[in-house]
Amino acid sequence: MPDAVGLRDRVQSALDQPVEVLTRAPGRLNVIGEHTDYIGGLALPAAIDRSILVGLHGAPTGLQLHSLDSGGSWSTSLDTPLDPALLSAGAPDWVRYMLGSIAVFVAHVAGPHQAPAQVLRPFVAAVAGDVPTGAGLSSSAALTVAWMNALAGWADHALEPTTIIQLARQVEHQWLGVQCGALDQTASQMGRDGHLLMVDFQPEPLSVTPVRSALPNTTWLVLHTGVQRGLAHSEYSSRVQAVTEGLAQIRSQQPAVGHWRDLTLDHVAALEPSQPLIARRLRHGVTENTRVRAMVEAIQHARPAQVGALLNQSHASLRDDYGVSCPELDAMCALATARPGVWGARMVGAGFGGCALALADANLADGDLSELLQAYQQRTGRRGTAYRMRPGPGAERLV
Ligand code: GLA
Repeated sequence: MPDAVGLRDRVQSALDQPVEVLTRAPGRLNVIGEHTDYIGGLALPAAIDRSILVGLHGAPTGLQLHSLDSGGSWSTSLDTPLDPALLSAGAPDWVRYMLGSIAVFVAHVAGPHQAPAQVLRPFVAAVAGDVPTGAGLSSSAALTVAWMNALAGWADHALEPTTIIQLARQVEHQWLGVQCGALDQTASQMGRDGHLLMVDFQPEPLSVTPVRSALPNTTWLVLHTGVQRGLAHSEYSSRVQAVTEGLAQIRSQQPAVGHWRDLTLDHVAALEPSQPLIARRLRHGVTENTRVRAMVEAIQHARPAQVGALLNQSHASLRDDYGVSCPELDAMCALATARPGVWGARMVGAGFGGCALALADANLADGDLSELLQAYQQRTGRRGTAYRMRPGPGAERLV
């Protein structure tokens, strides 16, 4: 069970003075619209009821960071500019996210290559969370968004939510080398209790419309395959490259295609004979965008069977056309979908491991979930886990 009070106590007890700034940001679950954000498409994510909390207080000099979940600490001076190239190769990801956020925030406020001391007084910070890592629930966006909000509070420099999203995304690009879209950061920053968010990534800044999660007597299940998302970085970049190249090729032959939204299945079919792989990647983008609109309608009209069918179609497209599933995700989705009381399932997040999402009847018993996980273990040899998840509120400052 999520335990926000426990997290708050953990953060406070790791610090030897009362926190002066405390922020919280949630992980995210994407109901549909996977791998559409970086092509200016549509998606329907929600913030989840699991979060990362960051607390900080002043110190005499420098900065100290403590991660309660990894047990690690890191300290550095505030007097020299932070640079990803100067960070040792073995530095853990949580340090990259936190130092990267400081560097990006300082550059935003004071300009490039400035020392953090230009903007930030010395501090000690502690971070703790209950978002499962490597699960496709975006614990990294939760950390970056919580931390960016904390830095803004500490520097007394108000940031618009869309600016927080943009800066948090830059951290991924510049400090982690992942050319991601803005899906995760948007859901974490802008989530609304009991709502999904219909996000349109095409206009800049992106637009967000809350959609009430109105499916009576159902529950969202998150089914973790127990596979960490190993290949995610390199395969993610290759998908971004494939669809960017594919669009450029179609555009060079069809000047009427200005943007992704102008692409049709006919354009994709015309590319298929010469570039079958790229055509499949593009087809996923086109069909997934259509499914997002259909999903919003199905949810607003409380049609669980249609929601389930769209989840299943999205999974097939991510597996067959986009090539980002894995045998364990396929097994989890097939076994879940075959059970009475489960309407449909699909992989979520970047892919290659992590979690699947299913829509199930609210009265699905814990015993049914255990049977599902046993069947999964028999088929794959892996131990899976299951959570019931509900859409929760987005990022907030608590102190
Ligand atoms: C990762 C990225 C997001 C998005 C998803 C796939 O979570 O960080 O920007 O592309 O994969 O939908």
